[in-house]
Amino acid sequence: MTDFTPNIADHAQTLQPFRVMKILGEAKALERQGKDIIHMEIGEPDFESLECVHDAVKAALDQGKTHYTATLGLPELRQKLGEFYADFYRANVKSDNIMLTPGASSALQLALTALLNPGDKVLMSDPTYPCNRQFVQLLHGELVLLPVDASSDYQLTLAHLEEYWQEDIKAVMVASPSNPSGTVIEQDELIKMAQFAATKNAYFLVDEIYQGLVYDRPAESILSHAQRPDNVIVINSFSKFFNMTGWRLGWMVAPSHLMPVLERLGQNLFLCAPTPSQHGALHVLEPDALMQLEARRKTFERRRNTLFKAMQEAGIAPKVLPQGAFYLYWDVSDYTDNAEQFCSRLLAETGVAITPGTDFGTHKAQQHVRLAYTTSEKQLQKAVVKIRAFLDSLTL
Ligand SMILES: Cc1ncc(COP(=O)(O)O)c(C=O)c1O
Repeated sequence: MTDFTPNIADHAQTLQPFRVMKILGEAKALERQGKDIIHMEIGEPDFESLECVHDAVKAALDQGKTHYTATLGLPELRQKLGEFYADFYRANVKSDNIMLTPGASSALQLALTALLNPGDKVLMSDPTYPCNRQFVQLLHGELVLLPVDASSDYQLTLAHLEEYWQEDIKAVMVASPSNPSGTVIEQDELIKMAQFAATKNAYFLVDEIYQGLVYDRPAESILSHAQRPDNVIVINSFSKFFNMTGWRLGWMVAPSHLMPVLERLGQNLFLCAPTPSQHGALHVLEPDALMQLEARRKTFERRRNTLFKAMQEAGIAPKVLPQGAFYLYWDVSDYTDNAEQFCSRLLAETGVAITPGTDFGTHKAQQHVRLAYTTSEKQLQKAVVKIRAFLDSLTL
C-alpha cells in the first residue's frame, strides 16, 4: 500500500466543536438507557414545520421542481419576501437586494467571505453565536471579542463601539434577539451603531434570525429605517420563527453594491438554496401560515414566562428577562466556576440537559449556562424543580 500521511489544514484542525452536541449525545445515551430527559439544550423549535409547507413541497416534487433555481433564489420567493418585509416590518426592501441561501449559516459565511481579506478584524460580543467566530477564523480574519454581561443585557451597545473601536475593523456582527441570551438591541440604538460603523467604513451585520419570536413587543427589523446606511447587511432564515430548521433555507438582505459579488460567491459555493424548500417557503409567508406561526410564538412567550417565574419562585431568578428567541442565559457563578462540569452533572443526576456558556465564548463562560425553552411548560416547571434540588445537593 502507498504510504499516505494525513495532512489536514490547520484552520480545519483547530476548529472548535459545538459543545451542545456533546451534551445532546450524552442525553441521548441516557435516554437509550431508559432515563427520562428534559431537553433544554438544543436551539431549535420543538414544533414540526407547517402542513402547508409539506403539501407545497409534495406538489413541487410531483411537478418535477427538483432542479437548480437561480443562484439568488426563486424570483417569486424573493418577491414574496419583499412583500413580507412591507407587511410585517413596514420595511421597504427590494427583491433585487434579497438572496436565498442554504440556511442563515450560509448567508453568514457568504457575507463574511464577501467582506474579509486575511487579517481584517470583525467585532462581536463575547458571548455570541459560536459559528460566527469560526467563520471569521476560517477566512483568516481577526476576531475582536468584546466581553458583555448582564449590565448591557449581554449585547453590544453604541458606547462599546465608541470606546473599543480599533483600526482595521471591517465588520461588526450583532444578533437581535441574540443567541445565547434572547435579548434585543433597541432599534434606536441599533441604527446608531450601524451609523457609527459606517463612519468608520465598516459593515454592520444584523442577524435577525430570531426576529418574529419576540415577546411583549412588536417584531422589528433594522430594514424599516429608511435612513439606514449602505453598510447594513441583514441575515435571516426560515429555521426559527418559521420552524423549518431541517429545510436549510435562509436569506440575506444586502446593499446593491454587494449583490453581484454575493451572486458570484453563491454560484461557486453552493449554486442555489434547496429548490423544494424554496417552494415550501413560498407558502409559509401566506396569511394563514403566519397566523399559525403567531400561535406558536404565543406558546414560546408563555413558556418564557413560565420558566422565568418558576426560577424566580425557586430563588434562582436570572438577572435578565429575555425578550425573544427561546433562550435564557443564566449566571450560575453562585454555584460553580465550571459550567461544563455543572451541565454534565446536572444531566447525569437529574436528566435536565442544558448548554454550558463555553459554547458561546470565554467571558464568564464557565459561570453561565443557556436554557432553551423548547419544551412544554409542564416539562419546564419540572426542570426547575430538579435544578433547585440539584443546587441544594451542591451546597449541602
Ligand atoms: C444567531 C444564529 N444565527 C444563525 C443560525 C444558523 O441558522 P440556520 O439554521 O438558518 O443555518 C443560528 C442557529 O442556531 C443562530 O442561533
